Amino acid sequence: MKENAGFTRMSPQTAETLAKQGDTDIELYLDDGIRGPTLYRRAGAGLADTDYSRLRNHGVSTVLVPSDDMQRIEQCLEEDFGGLLLDPSIESTAKAEILHHVGRAVSSSLLEDALDSESVTRMIGFVDGVVNGVMEDPSFAPYLMQMAGHHRGTASHMAIVSALGVLLASELYGNDTKTLHDVGVAGLLHDLGKLQIDQSILIKKTPLTPEEMTLIQHHPVDSVRKIGDDPRVSSAVRRMIVEHHERIDGRGYPLGLKGDEILHGSKVLAVVDSFHAITGPRAYREAMTPAEALRVMAMLSGRQFDSEVLRAWTSLLSQHQAEVSAHWAVQGDERGEDELGARHEHRPSGGKTTTPKMRQPRLDCHQKFKVNCVYAERLDLLEKGKGGFESMVNDLSKNGICLHTDHALYRGEVLHIHLEQGGNSMWLEGRVAWCRRNTPERGYRCGIRLESRLPEGRCPGADAA
Ligand SMILES: [Fe+2]
Ligand SMILES: [Fe+2]
Repeated sequence: MKENAGFTRMSPQTAETLAKQGDTDIELYLDDGIRGPTLYRRAGAGLADTDYSRLRNHGVSTVLVPSDDMQRIEQCLEEDFGGLLLDPSIESTAKAEILHHVGRAVSSSLLEDALDSESVTRMIGFVDGVVNGVMEDPSFAPYLMQMAGHHRGTASHMAIVSALGVLLASELYGNDTKTLHDVGVAGLLHDLGKLQIDQSILIKKTPLTPEEMTLIQHHPVDSVRKIGDDPRVSSAVRRMIVEHHERIDGRGYPLGLKGDEILHGSKVLAVVDSFHAITGPRAYREAMTPAEALRVMAMLSGRQFDSEVLRAWTSLLSQHQAEVSAHWAVQGDERGEDELGARHEHRPSGGKTTTPKMRQPRLDCHQKFKVNCVYAERLDLLEKGKGGFESMVNDLSKNGICLHTDHALYRGEVLHIHLEQGGNSMWLEGRVAWCRRNTPERGYRCGIRLESRLPEGRCPGADAA
């Protein structure tokens, strides 16, 4: 979707809520995608209920408001934030959007002023509103998750991690409002320390030097330092912030804690923080969908992420899968790489990422032909019932096979592949070594490392399909 500089997108429902709040002093513009913003309503002109239903009936999902007005709008929403989230007459989609606008405004003030008394009061007001909203009316949960796909700036990241953290905490801890509140506050403050790091390091595309990596790995501790000794920030919140990059296997930072040494709330924060980071676009790859992000995270279950916490997050997303997927990539108004350089954020300690190398099979076969594939082990938590598929072979050797597929295969998945050539028929077992998107063609090229030949006439994977 075309970006409109100087304007912020908003749903007609949120604009309607603002009007009901008494703020009629905003200009609304429409964007047909061709001519750019067109004035729909002048400031102070007022709109009747029918005007909003007409917008909806015409399928208008977003209106534009001048960005200069946003500070005043966010202030208006923040004044009755808790009440708005509990108001049954406000639609869930507007509630999620209001939450984002207010959370972003509160995080921005924290980023600018650190924790002065007023910022802490606003922060507590925001988190109270989120906790009560999630507990009393969880209907906006899917919209909250959709929102995570649309907003990537630093202030948005902190607000979204806070809200998603409360959501996941409510799934795990029920009505334990104290812990829900702690997770929400920790989410809102967790990356404050990144402001200490020079922007040139955060956006650096080449590998970081050991000194630069040390600086990056120090940001959880710097976040806590910036908080100071305000007694309204509990010791549990401070631990969650310090530990949000720790890993279950002890390879995290800054302390290298393991398993139960890590506070449970920190594990909750780690999952939602990584989920939001992984689903964002990076310089070296496109944004991932929620399902793709979960597959990647599932491979790190029990190593980077606590299995029970990750399972709860996966189940929460599965409950709202249809709504989340339907809207994930539709609006895209604020997508863009996190200005705090989150690409460095989730790298394991040791500083190296392992990018799967493309394995080039020896070309023992130069003709393209079709094979049948059956999943024997699938790293898949959301999509069910995909037992097998037909695929075109690009290259084949005794060690590996390169397939052209219409969907992505994930590193580590095990396939049973039926080969029929020159009167010979056999089933081979192979493990996915790499998978790359095909451009400009559609689909994917996937390298499978062949591991064994299966017994005659039987494919164990077919039984499970
Ligand atoms: Fe972080
Ligand atoms: Fe973060």
